[in-house]
Amino acid sequence: MSRIPNLPEREVTPESTFLRRRELLRGAAVLGAAAALPGCAEAESSGPATPASGGPEALPPVAAASAASELGEIRPAPREFRTEEAQTSWEDATSYNNFYEFGTDKRDPARRAGSLRTRPWSVSIEGEVARPGPVPIEDLMAPHPLEERIYRLRCVEAWSMVIPWVGIPLGALLSRFEPTSKAKYVAFETLVDPEQMPGQRRSILDWPYREGLRMDEAMHPLTILAVGMYGRVLPNQNGAPLRLVVPWKYGFKSIKSIVTIRLQADPPPTSWSLQAPSEYGFYANVNPDVSHPRWSQARERRIGEWSKRPTLPFNGYAEEVASLYRGMDLRKHF
Ligand code: MTE
Repeated sequence: MSRIPNLPEREVTPESTFLRRRELLRGAAVLGAAAALPGCAEAESSGPATPASGGPEALPPVAAASAASELGEIRPAPREFRTEEAQTSWEDATSYNNFYEFGTDKRDPARRAGSLRTRPWSVSIEGEVARPGPVPIEDLMAPHPLEERIYRLRCVEAWSMVIPWVGIPLGALLSRFEPTSKAKYVAFETLVDPEQMPGQRRSILDWPYREGLRMDEAMHPLTILAVGMYGRVLPNQNGAPLRLVVPWKYGFKSIKSIVTIRLQADPPPTSWSLQAPSEYGFYANVNPDVSHPRWSQARERRIGEWSKRPTLPFNGYAEEVASLYRGMDLRKHF
């Protein structure tokens, strides 16, 4: 098995960026929850997409650190990768979260995710690649310049945000590991550690949280792995140190705190389609014409606003991605 060599970052990164990346790493270790932030907007009143499992367990709140490090040099988002719509406030984006590993209440991740240790962090690259193996996150990121992407995020629960992410194209990263011709899908898994992730002490989901993409979706230029947002290191509650962002799909595809990336021939099982196959499919493309069995997907509430707005096909990215699904019945492949 060949392995990605552990190149020192300074061999592949300009010194100034290298130094700021070091700040990034230090920052991430202490950046916990941005706690005690003002309350956020209500979720869609027709209820969350979640199993009614008796409410959040009374877990001790984790002491929240709140340093917000800068990420350093970031390529600004080119026109095709930015929406000009008003950005969601940092406070809302970091205090109104879904991260069931820390509980099912929207405020649980901000209160509790400080217990997640994001360094050292290693991602296991597995399956149909010429160069599999565990890769420290520093080595994973080192060759890739950080880019800003200002995307809409549409949750399946009918709320949405606009977030300036900082990350790298997933396609560029996967290419480095040389996918074989058998690689048709990419599977992702979140860390399992009930000590750091107290929500995992309950079987709300079949842990680890799992997600997957078809290879062409994974290689699409809109698909990124984020390490930051708003020019800062990704807060734990938003999926530090590494999360997926696929802007034309419902937010549950954007898996947080990734420890495994596996390329494979078959479609991987995904957490929500395992949990409720009639409610959540593998594709999860934002589609105002296909209602969730328990509520309409035609409209959404932008967090921070009161009135609802129409939901756009593929979350407004149809021009870029609709061709990926040509000929498919999107009611069947929801
Ligand atoms: N990833 C993991 N590991 N666990 C989760 O519970 N929730 C998903 C997704 N990624 C989730 C996850 C859902 S349902 C949504 S809408 C988004 O994260 C929310 O991202 P945000 O909290 O940063 O807005």
